[in-house]
Amino acid sequence: MKNTMDFQTVEPSYTSKEGCRIVWKGIDEDDTDVVILNKNELEQLVELFKKNSTGEVELEDQTSIIRINSDVTQFNLTNHDLLEVKTSEIQKQILDYAKVPHEPQYVYVGTKEFYPSVWIRDDKEPNKELDKKKTNQSLIQAILSSEPEKIRQDLSPTDLFRVFSTRRSTRKFSKTKVEDWKVDKILSAADVAPTAGNFQGFQVFLIKNQKTKEALVEAANNQPYVNAPVVLVFCIDPERVKLKFPPNILEKFSLQDATIAASFSLLAASGVGLSTIWIGMFDEEKVKTILGTELRPSSILCIGYPDKKKPPKSRRKLKDLIQVIE
Ligand SMILES: Cc1cc2nc3c(=O)[nH]c(=O)nc-3n(C[C@H](O)[C@H](O)[C@H](O)COP(=O)(O)O)c2cc1C
Repeated sequence: MKNTMDFQTVEPSYTSKEGCRIVWKGIDEDDTDVVILNKNELEQLVELFKKNSTGEVELEDQTSIIRINSDVTQFNLTNHDLLEVKTSEIQKQILDYAKVPHEPQYVYVGTKEFYPSVWIRDDKEPNKELDKKKTNQSLIQAILSSEPEKIRQDLSPTDLFRVFSTRRSTRKFSKTKVEDWKVDKILSAADVAPTAGNFQGFQVFLIKNQKTKEALVEAANNQPYVNAPVVLVFCIDPERVKLKFPPNILEKFSLQDATIAASFSLLAASGVGLSTIWIGMFDEEKVKTILGTELRPSSILCIGYPDKKKPPKSRRKLKDLIQVIE
C-alpha cells in the first residue's frame, strides 16, 4: 500500500554518530514516519547516490529494501506502507548529510518509527475454543484456577504479554554487537516511563567505555556479566522532583522513578530480542566515583544477545501471590 507521507529531512541518530534517520511527515503535526539507517546502510546509499546510479540497499532485517530508481526512490519496508521520495531530492539531502560528521541527537519517541525487526515464525493457530472459555471467566476465577501461562505463538514478538511470558535474565552474553536502533528503543522506553509529578527524577548513564565497564564489574562484587555489550546505570535524582514533600518522600519517589524506568528499558530490550540482567548488588560509592557523579545509583541494567536462549523461570502460583480483600 502506498503512503501519503512527504519526505522531510535526513537527521542524526539518537545515540550513534553513525547512520541517520530519514523523516517523512504526514498532514498532522505529530504524524511522522522515520526510517533509521545504520552506518553500513547509509554508506551504501551514499555510494549509489555519488555515482548517480540506480540500485538497491538491503536493510539489516534482510527483507526491507531501499530501491533507487532514476525518478523515485522507494522504501519497501517489512510490515509497513511503501514510502517514496523523488530521487533527486533524497540524493541531495543524503549527499549533503554525508559531507560533515554529525553528533547524536536527543532521544525522542515517535509513534510510527520504522525499525527493521526480527521476524518470528507464527507456527500455531490460536486456540479459539480455549480463548472463548477464558473470556467467560472473571479475573478472580482466572487467578484462582490459573495454570502456568503457555506462550502464545500467535502474538507478535513485541507483544507486551509475549515479552512478559518469554523474558528470562541472562548472565552470559554473546559477543554480537547490539544495533544502535535497539539501544535507542531501550533508552526511549526509559524516557516514557511514568514518574512522580512527571519530574523524571532519574538519570541514565550509557556506558560505552570499556575501562568503565571493567571498573563497574569490580564495583558490583566482581560480577563478570556487568561487562555486557550495553550497560546502563540508573541513578536517582531527587532534586529534579519539584514537589513540596519532605526529602525522604522525594528520595522514595526518585527511587521509584529510576526503578520503573529501568523496568521499561528491561522490557524494551526483551521486546527487541535481547536479554538482560538487572544488577542491584554493587557498592554505591564506588559506582558514583566511576561515573563521576553525585547521583545515587539504583540499578545497573546489562543488556545483550543471550549466549543461549533459555525458557523463563517458574514463579509461585498466582493464587499464592494475590490476596483478595473482599
Ligand atoms: C532488585 C533486583 C536486584 C538484582 N540484583 C542482581 C545482582 O546483583 N546480580 C545478579 O546476578 N542478578 C540480580 N538480579 C536478577 C535476579 O536474580 C533475577 O531477575 C531473578 O533470579 C529472576 O529471574 P528472571 O529475571 O530470569 O525471571 C536482581 C534482580 C532484581 C529485581
